[in-house]
Amino acid sequence: MHTLTRRDFVRFGAASLGSRAAMKVTRLEPLALFGAGHDVAPSDRIRFASIGTGTRGCELLTASLDVQGIECVAVCDLYDSRHEAAREAVKKQVPATRNYREILDRKDVDAVIVAVADHQHRRIVVDACAAGKDVYCEKPMSHNVEDGFAIVEAVQRGNRILQVGSQRVSSIVYEKARELYTSGALGDVFFVEGASDRNSPSGAWVYPIPPDASEQTIDWNEFLVGAPKRPFDPVRFFRWRCYSDYGEGLAGDLFVHLLSGIHFILGVDEAPQRAQSSGGLFRWKDGRDFPDLIETLYDYPKLRVALRCNLNNAGGEPIKFHGTKGTMEINGQTLVFTPQDTTPKPEGYSIKGWPEKLRKEYLAKWMAENPQPDPLEYKAVEAETFTAPDNYSDVSAHQANFFNAVRSRTKTVENEEFGNHAAIGCHLANYAYFKNTIATWDASAKAIRG
Ligand SMILES: NC(=O)c1ccc[n+]([C@@H]2O[C@H](COP(=O)([O-])OP(=O)(O)OC[C@H]3O[C@@H](n4cnc5c(N)ncnc54)[C@H](O)[C@@H]3O)[C@@H](O)[C@H]2O)c1
Repeated sequence: MHTLTRRDFVRFGAASLGSRAAMKVTRLEPLALFGAGHDVAPSDRIRFASIGTGTRGCELLTASLDVQGIECVAVCDLYDSRHEAAREAVKKQVPATRNYREILDRKDVDAVIVAVADHQHRRIVVDACAAGKDVYCEKPMSHNVEDGFAIVEAVQRGNRILQVGSQRVSSIVYEKARELYTSGALGDVFFVEGASDRNSPSGAWVYPIPPDASEQTIDWNEFLVGAPKRPFDPVRFFRWRCYSDYGEGLAGDLFVHLLSGIHFILGVDEAPQRAQSSGGLFRWKDGRDFPDLIETLYDYPKLRVALRCNLNNAGGEPIKFHGTKGTMEINGQTLVFTPQDTTPKPEGYSIKGWPEKLRKEYLAKWMAENPQPDPLEYKAVEAETFTAPDNYSDVSAHQANFFNAVRSRTKTVENEEFGNHAAIGCHLANYAYFKNTIATWDASAKAIRG
């Protein structure tokens, strides 16, 4: 043991300050995808179909080409042009239908991807489970609290595998973040803040209406199942996220990614206990039901989480974990961990107001009572950066996790319980916002109070 001298303090202080600029960068290695590294016989492939082949459905079909051991055998969508888009995405002339029940009736389909508007998730997932199919369901899992529990029940009753589609939880960046947190490197984390900020018409869901959109090319009545009847309206069909009949606004679309990532990293396996929201519709006043800015403060038993979505500034999607030993920030495919200097030190601020004699006595006593490790053992405060390789896709990794689970009959990384908890967080945020109240989650009654 070594008693810390004044010179040591100066040396250590200077070292920690000087090293703040130092940065170690580590490139993360992607995991092998399903079936990678060995040939999967055609008879052993998992055969899947995609229900909903709009923007996300096509993205998923394209990403599925990177996953080995699976085969798309059919696609389904209510809008005819999306049949062709799906075939282009999956690079295969698969059969296409408007009627998802035709797909569920096929005995040779093992699994379905459900990438339809949110208000249709429950109906299709419940029917798919009853038909014995495993399901990859896009996020948010549910349109409302009741839908979420109906999906959980259907999956568990049918002994099915379900993956919810917040793909970040399969990202190597999030895996690293979880590893850092569970290693104790951050210390206790009592506060997390996250944002999802955009500044464009596309970011605000003002999508163009395709020129061939009509009642002839779209099965509008089928789209309205589970929603109020109304005359054909292509704006509602293509910009459904703006309307509470079909979507959940910013909370359902974007908070769900932030919450899923935070739950995954911290190992949270429950819905938030309470939520308070503020915000407003300031700019995108096009008849939508939802605000274009929302901030929500969540209570969990052991921490608080503050989320924001703002469609009026391109702030990106940072998530910051504030720990007692360090700060971890994820931004896109990059993770930066900055430890904080937590080495024991005598109190040095208030003693500035002490006479020198008392100050010296205090410092000498502190040194005697706090044997110090050799100053050379002090680790400099050095930030560390981890990045995914260029073109890394967590979308294929998330699908691979699903198809691996289908084959091995094990739980997915984002199963029905996990997906339900994250979705409840979104419903709490909207409840608090629209009712202008503190929304409280009553887990035993499976209901929001406020
Ligand atoms: N994980 C992600 O990052 C991510 C990104 C985008 C969208 N999503 C989710 O994916 C889902 C789809 O979003 P999108 O952007 O592709 O919307 P979209 O409007 O582009 O496509 C949805 C498609 O679903 C079809 N559809 C609706 N009801 C149907 C039914 N009963 N049978 C067959 N097809 C039906 C529609 O015809 C439409 O083509 C949503 O749940 C959304 O939240 C997830």
